[in-house]
Amino acid sequence: MQKQKLIKLIEPDLGNDELSEIRQVFKSGILTRGPKVEQFETLVGKFVGAKYALATTSATTALHLALAALGIGPGDEVLVPDYTFPATANVVVQLGAIPVLVDIDLDTFTIDLKDLEKKITKRSKAIMPVHAFGLSADMNPVNVLAKKHHLFVVEDAACALGTTYYGKRCGNLSDIGCFSFHPRKAITTGEGGMITTNSKRLADQMSLLRNHGGLRKNGRFTFLAAGYNYRLSDIQAAVGVAQMHKLPDILRKRTKRAQDLYTALKDIDGISLPNIPPWKGHVFQSFVILLDMKYNRDTVIENMKKKNIETTLGTYALHDQPFFMKQYGYKASDLKKSHYVYKHALTLPLYAQMTKQDINRIVVGLAESLKE
Ligand SMILES: Cc1ncc(COP(=O)(O)O)c(C=O)c1O
Repeated sequence: MQKQKLIKLIEPDLGNDELSEIRQVFKSGILTRGPKVEQFETLVGKFVGAKYALATTSATTALHLALAALGIGPGDEVLVPDYTFPATANVVVQLGAIPVLVDIDLDTFTIDLKDLEKKITKRSKAIMPVHAFGLSADMNPVNVLAKKHHLFVVEDAACALGTTYYGKRCGNLSDIGCFSFHPRKAITTGEGGMITTNSKRLADQMSLLRNHGGLRKNGRFTFLAAGYNYRLSDIQAAVGVAQMHKLPDILRKRTKRAQDLYTALKDIDGISLPNIPPWKGHVFQSFVILLDMKYNRDTVIENMKKKNIETTLGTYALHDQPFFMKQYGYKASDLKKSHYVYKHALTLPLYAQMTKQDINRIVVGLAESLKE
């Protein structure tokens, strides 16, 4: 029997628009710190509604810069949801601070507010809520807690370009927002990231640290800090500019495809579909469902693979990872809800160009895979 075509988790929408933007950069000969980077920053800043936007090489370097600019360092504690990509906590470790892992809310996969409050101490300096899979964390209570305890808030908005919280764009709901343009995201520059903020002081500090800690005046640098090189190139920014023009259309199509998945999956037993909380605004960077306890999620992934349909886990429970266990003494399943979602969440394919036939194959494939 002929194998059906591979349905991938995501297919970036890249083509002639991106090539023509790249051509402009090649013609100009300005490959870094040039006008394309500025154009990309302006587009993202305007879209998010933030006064300042700084392009970086990834969301990881964006998060690192953000914490460095806030002065996070040895002895400080930063509250991070346990269920996230390790980058969120790794940057805390890299600055010599301690990531305090907080359990998540089972309905939204975002930071659990009760556990968050419990884990605030005198050493706490910042909270890093993650907008999981394109759904905002419950930011109003997070900001209230932050104000009460004099903490900074840095949004890990890696998966949340376009996500809204009660109508306001993520990345503009706290001190600093950090986005990713990795190919698994709605728009991509291959690798890339962006920082957004409304604070001139923080923008200036992050800009300085992004460029080796050097301040340029009259064509010369004076080095004021031991900074980094976290600059995005103009070639990547050119791709980003073309992608930003497509973003509204990509988000509209992805949301529509997500609705199609909801409708098509609603009668399948043994799964929970993504919840939409009162603040709404989910952009479905990933369409993540939860399997009932009786299923082995990894077997389902293998069964789907045999049908040539790519699926994967949601993301990681950090306290279950060897580094965090060894370094901070966590034991597997210490954070119960995060552990459960780590073991039972399944990401289904979702991309703008997905057809009705693709959706049908995913749904039939999933129903069969749960039985096999
Ligand atoms: C929540 C979260 N934060 C940070 C990152 C890191 O992003 P990047 O690959 O752009 O460094 C990711 C990557 O998937 C992520 O999902």
